[in-house]
This record gives sequence, structure tokens and C-alpha cells, in this order.
Amino acid sequence: MSTSNQELLAGQHRVMELGIGGLVDGSGSREELSEAVYLLRRHIYVEEAFLFPIIKQDQGRWMALAQMQSDHGDMWPHIESAIYLLQANAPLDDLFPAAQAMLKLLEVHDQREETAIYSVADRYVADANYPSLESLFAATEIPPGWRCLRAPEQA
Ligand SMILES: [Fe+2]
Ligand SMILES: [Fe+2]
Repeated sequence: MSTSNQELLAGQHRVMELGIGGLVDGSGSREELSEAVYLLRRHIYVEEAFLFPIIKQDQGRWMALAQMQSDHGDMWPHIESAIYLLQANAPLDDLFPAAQAMLKLLEVHDQREETAIYSVADRYVADANYPSLESLFAATEIPPGWRCLRAPEQA
């Protein structure tokens, strides 16, 4: 039996909250943080590029989608900063501000999204033109230079 989109995406929320929260409360490791941050970037990509266009066919969800995109835009600079620091092998202390900011945003965003969007995430049905979300996570790296829709302009 395959996992529903709802379960898959909400499960990733828990992994990301744990991995990023672990740095904030001191219980986690660099590896868990790194996994969580890269997952978060891919998670936002799959949501915006594949899931949201399907949900958008329902006009009743437009406001909720706009809120989700705006939340992603708030997270994006912190994701970029964390990835930059991870790649530079910076000390974990230097990653703390970005982790704290991401965690604070995730705690609000994830609950909202699970209620407003994931409750209908299984309207995304894989077919010949739409790979399953599960396979997108397994196989897809995000296109180089891709940024989420509401990412602030780069300085
Ligand atoms: Fe999201
Ligand atoms: Fe999400």
C-alpha cells in the first residue's frame, strides 16, 4: 500500500521540525539539520511546482495558497543562509539564528498547511504527465537556481 500525499507531506513536516528543532534545543546533530534543510528546500519546490497548481483549480483555496506561498517566501532567505553555512562547514553556533527563524516559521506554517491544503492533497493524482509526489522526492533535485515564488529579491 502506498502512502497518501497527505501522510507523505505531513511526515516530512515532522522530520524537518525535528531536524531543525534539534539544533535549536541542542539535541540534534549537523547531519540531521543538514538533511532537514535540504528536505525543506525540496519540499517547498515540490509543493509549489507540482502540488499547488492542482489545488489552485479550486478557487476556494486561493487565499490559503497565497498564504502558503508567502510563508515559503519568509523561510527562503533562512534556507539559503543555512545551506551556505552548511556548505562552508561553519560552526553550528553560526547556524543557530537561521535554524531558530526556520523553526518559528515552520511551527505556524506546517499546521496551517496541513489543515488548509494537505486535507485535499490527494486531489493530486499521478498519471503519465504528473509523477507521484513520492517519486518526485525520491528522484528529483530542484533545478539549479530555482527559488520559491515569493522569495525576496537577492541582495
Ligand atoms: Fe509549505
Ligand atoms: Fe509543507
